[in-house]
Amino acid sequence: MRKVAVVGVGQSVFGVRNDVTLQELAWEAVKEALEDAGISQKDVELSVVGTVGTRGYELMPSVVVNEYCGLVGKGPVRVEAACATGSAALWTAYTAVASGQVDVALAIGVEKMNEVDTATSLAVGGRAGNYLWEFHFYGTTFPAYYAFYATAHMAKFGTTEEHMAMVAVKNHKYAARNPKAHFQYEVTIEEVLTSRPIAWPIKLLDSSPISDGAAAVVLASDEVARRLTDTPVWIKAIGYSSDTSNFTRRLDYLGLRATRQAAEMAYKIAKISPGDVEVAEVHDCFTIAEIMAYEDLGFVEKGKGGLFIAEGQSELGGKVSVNLSGGLKAKGHPLGATGLAMIYELTKQLREERERGRQAPLRKYIGLAHNVGGTGHYAYVTVLTR
Ligand SMILES: CC(C)(COP(=O)(O)OP(=O)(O)OC[C@H]1O[C@@H](n2cnc3c(N)ncnc32)[C@H](O)[C@@H]1OP(=O)(O)O)[C@@H](O)C(=O)NCCC(=O)NCCS
Repeated sequence: MRKVAVVGVGQSVFGVRNDVTLQELAWEAVKEALEDAGISQKDVELSVVGTVGTRGYELMPSVVVNEYCGLVGKGPVRVEAACATGSAALWTAYTAVASGQVDVALAIGVEKMNEVDTATSLAVGGRAGNYLWEFHFYGTTFPAYYAFYATAHMAKFGTTEEHMAMVAVKNHKYAARNPKAHFQYEVTIEEVLTSRPIAWPIKLLDSSPISDGAAAVVLASDEVARRLTDTPVWIKAIGYSSDTSNFTRRLDYLGLRATRQAAEMAYKIAKISPGDVEVAEVHDCFTIAEIMAYEDLGFVEKGKGGLFIAEGQSELGGKVSVNLSGGLKAKGHPLGATGLAMIYELTKQLREERERGRQAPLRKYIGLAHNVGGTGHYAYVTVLTR
């Protein structure tokens, strides 16, 4: 396998983007990524479009996106792995470059989620699993699935609503400094705790929003990367795993087995341990998910995730700086774009291009992206280094 580098990244502004079509939204990210890499469409040999599409109007989104972005002839595939779709696009493009099939590949993630109302979106999200054997009988919504995790974690480890609120406060703080975030404002613990219940103990301010957005990443082989840039960000490893479709067939509700397996694979390939990670973008679709991620990624032992946030260990300058973009919680969560937006943020962090108050202090220059699909159905863990 060849070494693969990130040589260009782009991201649209996340939010409710009724001002653009799906393809216009994708172009915002693609244009920035191509310019960042210093290349044009003719240099791209493969374009992989990741989009979930269940809340959108396009049946074949990759075709319209590639055409609008000037990539006709380069996009033979559209990928989907629920909320981990962006990572699936990255992995597909990465394997094409690593295997030697192409030298330059583009991964595009895009989602328009606000074409439908919240009730429809929640109904669609609730079908993330085994429709016939679960949703059809119980009608569970997506926040309700994560409420199962939250209550199990609270019962077993004494994790509190305050611990979860701290995650929201931290992530909103960084989103307030991110001009591309969906919610660019801070919140207090009190505001989180008194926000509207969604599926107890998950409240409005524990939830990621319904966002539109796009992100794009240009990958290049070792030789081409060194020609294009002085600051390639290397993909050291992409670990992956998956789990049962039925929520009821999971091992337990205290964490995500798929994350643990993907992390183990990524650490092994990258030859690092969790303690080496200095900056991370983790999948905080609900605040409890970030607490479980600290544990499943090995930043802290199982059950101590609440303490980890309470001690400020995931803050900028803590043991590992987590979600300096604002995370899914406050930067937003346009499903197909999320995994690539994590790579966008980490690339900026590892190049030390972030402004004061949002740039992680780095010694080893090791970053980690953690992207989950569904309720732990898919997981990808990507290790990056400068
Ligand atoms: C939590 C949720 C149900 C709220 O949706 P809603 O009740 O329709 O909220 P609305 O869109 O009517 O917004 C009402 C207000 O709350 C705000 N808001 C909506 N979601 C928010 C969130 N997650 N965090 C903070 N504020 C939020 C809106 O900006 C709006 O503010 P305004 O009145 O100042 O304009 C919805 O955001 C949701 O389903 N989130 C989870 C998405 C999900 O499951 N993603 C997949 C996970 S992997």
